[in-house]
Amino acid sequence: MKILVLNGPNLNMLGIREPDIYGRKTYDDLVSLIKDHCAGAGIEVECKQSNSEGTLVDFIQQAYFEKVDGIVINPGAYTHTSVALLDALKAVAIPTVEVHISQVDERESFRQISYVSYYACKTIMGKGFDGYLEAIDILAAK
Ligand code: DQA
Repeated sequence: MKILVLNGPNLNMLGIREPDIYGRKTYDDLVSLIKDHCAGAGIEVECKQSNSEGTLVDFIQQAYFEKVDGIVINPGAYTHTSVALLDALKAVAIPTVEVHISQVDERESFRQISYVSYYACKTIMGKGFDGYLEAIDILAAK
């Protein structure tokens, strides 16, 4: 079982950006948490982050050629704008769970659309870093 965890723009700033919303733990803390969880469950995992939409599309396409079994994606602000990420996920047809650290549905109106959710089999929000672990477990159970 091989899982790719993808994080989009500004998620490298976790711990610094809006701690009231996203908490005080860093992106490195998130990666350690995910790696420990996957090691315990015998899951191969790779964590990638980019601030650029095109690079995220490239990472999704690479996942197809690397025979990744599942994708966990927090597209950051591209959630609400990117048809390109949706199309990339549809192109590779890899089971995908969408994760948001914050409770997006209780935030601004411009955050109420998610293009990725047109493809993702599940969306987890408002559970902080634990949402990523839940997403991994959902994909591992498939
Ligand atoms: C986010 C929510 C998005 O609206 C925002 O643009 C982010 C992070 C979240 O994890 O809660 O960058 O995806």
